[in-house]
Amino acid sequence: MVACWPEPIVSVQALSQTGMSTVPNRYVKPLHQRPVINADQTEADIEIPVVDMSDVWGKQEELKRVRSACEEWGFFQVVNHGVSHELMERMRGAWREFFELPLEEKRKYANSPDTYEGYGSRLGVVKDAILDWSDYFFLNHSPSSVKNPSKWPSQPPKIRELIEEYGEEVKKLCERLVETLSESLGLEPNLLMKALGGEDKVGACLRANFYPKCPQPDLTLGLSSHSDPGGITILLPDEKVPGLQVRRGDRWITVKSVPNAFIVNIGDQIQILSNGIYKSVEHQVIVNSGKDRVSLAFFYNPRSDIPIGPIEELVTENQPALYNPIRFDKYRLLIREKGPGGKNQVDSLLAS
Ligand code: OGA
Ligand code: NI
Repeated sequence: MVACWPEPIVSVQALSQTGMSTVPNRYVKPLHQRPVINADQTEADIEIPVVDMSDVWGKQEELKRVRSACEEWGFFQVVNHGVSHELMERMRGAWREFFELPLEEKRKYANSPDTYEGYGSRLGVVKDAILDWSDYFFLNHSPSSVKNPSKWPSQPPKIRELIEEYGEEVKKLCERLVETLSESLGLEPNLLMKALGGEDKVGACLRANFYPKCPQPDLTLGLSSHSDPGGITILLPDEKVPGLQVRRGDRWITVKSVPNAFIVNIGDQIQILSNGIYKSVEHQVIVNSGKDRVSLAFFYNPRSDIPIGPIEELVTENQPALYNPIRFDKYRLLIREKGPGGKNQVDSLLAS
């Protein structure tokens, strides 16, 4: 993998703070990718399903809801998820503070495309690519072999301990979700976790996203359309500033976040493991001219060094294996080179 970026990195936050009135060409999306902002709200009244985690245990009704959410939307919000609301709030606050630090301080963690760990402003290494209107901080939380807290921010004070604590809590939620997904697929509760490589071998990483306010939000995107490459994603959204849009046919639905909920979405690896029953759905982020937005995406991924392919129990005569198996470390490399690109990546594994 290449060790450096094809062009010097520009912090979008710093750019936004110059108070410029137009978006530089590097961020202007081609017409067909530009968002539709302020669309007729009556049309946008559809919402992603909400799942109550205190209800899923042994309740067929709630498992059915989970199943249809994963089949039809690839997205749902979870409430009563067991993670302390106060911890969620502290984590949000700490990352806001991090992004408010002077650029020189953040630049100490400048990342490179070989691991992506640290502070960065671009995904993909394609020269002259049109860039997204955001900065981010990416770090590995699990397994312990790739965890290196010295690469995590040291400011604001106690943020490392906070990331640690938050990661442990959200991982527990992921374990419960994986069990729930397994049951909702009609499998033994522990089968999906086994297929992911086992609780102590799975990967977990965090991306803190910062979407600065933007003078011409209709020309660009905070994050281009993509599906998440890994297993499941637990997003802590900015409750005050919407921005996440989920694809629904040929429309984009802006998610209205429920207070204290997480937004959960299915990644490409669960689509592959479920043999296409569950969908990793395309999503993107729009920006606005009034407010910065901060979101925290926690990615729960399969063990990286085993082949991931459709689960045997879900392969039948009527539904033969849809995907060729691939190791997650290899899969991820492809995405890291190309940057966000809709669903091209998972589609490239379709068995012929
Ligand atoms: C992501 C993502 C959505 C958001 O980080 O993969 O889709 O609202 N984030 O920031
Ligand atoms: Ni995503």
